Amino acid sequence: MNDSFDPFSDVASLQLAVTDSFCELAEQTVKQNGVFRVSLSGGSTPRRVYEMLSERQLPWDQIHWFWGDERNVPHDHADSNFRMVHTALLSKVDIPAANIHAVPVNVDAPAEAAEQYEQTLRDHFDEPFPAWDLMLLGMGDDAHTASLFPDTLALGEQNRWFVENWVPKFDGFRYTLTFPAIESARNIWMMTAGEAKQQALKQALKQVLSGETDLNRYPSQRIKPTRWFVDAAACGAA
Ligand code: 6PG
Repeated sequence: MNDSFDPFSDVASLQLAVTDSFCELAEQTVKQNGVFRVSLSGGSTPRRVYEMLSERQLPWDQIHWFWGDERNVPHDHADSNFRMVHTALLSKVDIPAANIHAVPVNVDAPAEAAEQYEQTLRDHFDEPFPAWDLMLLGMGDDAHTASLFPDTLALGEQNRWFVENWVPKFDGFRYTLTFPAIESARNIWMMTAGEAKQQALKQALKQVLSGETDLNRYPSQRIKPTRWFVDAAACGAA
């Protein structure tokens, strides 16, 4: 856990800090390795980050964009994580199409789409598991992260990198990276904002502080972020 767990006063300063840190890490990594491979989070917290990134000078040709999870809806659907990122960032910047790796959603055959995306990931990463330069994650009120929801099958996956995951509360499938394919990232940033996240964050920190876990109930407990971006409201300090 990064040495400073100081909560940000509000979500806006949290989002600005993620944006600044993203730019710094991307520049540094491209200088060192010539490429920066990032897995994006869906949800509402990172949207403003993506919007602010679109106003920055970045080595766009050397950055590859992947999704850590996706909803089982077409890319032009309001719930699509692809659409959210496209609207906030990708449509505003001249990014080579070959650098944008959207989940090839297939509403009627999610298992096939998940296998196809896993192959795309394996084409880009040849280590046992993908060594992302940056893994952006959020945490749900129910302590899910990516689309690894409580009491779902994907929680136990140890070999696959990317799977379809049946989520009873949505009566539908989601697509998600598996834990091993998240934990292999060089940098894992957990963004958690808002009062509604207090319980989930408390459980996630329980693991950090005491090692106590109930992964089926609190999937976020399995994640060991290299950096936490939390706000006072999520910490109950607002
Ligand atoms: C998704 C996300 C999900 C998200 C959390 C937090 O597709 O919904 O990837 O894991 O990060 O639900 O979402 P908020 O940022 O909206 O609180």
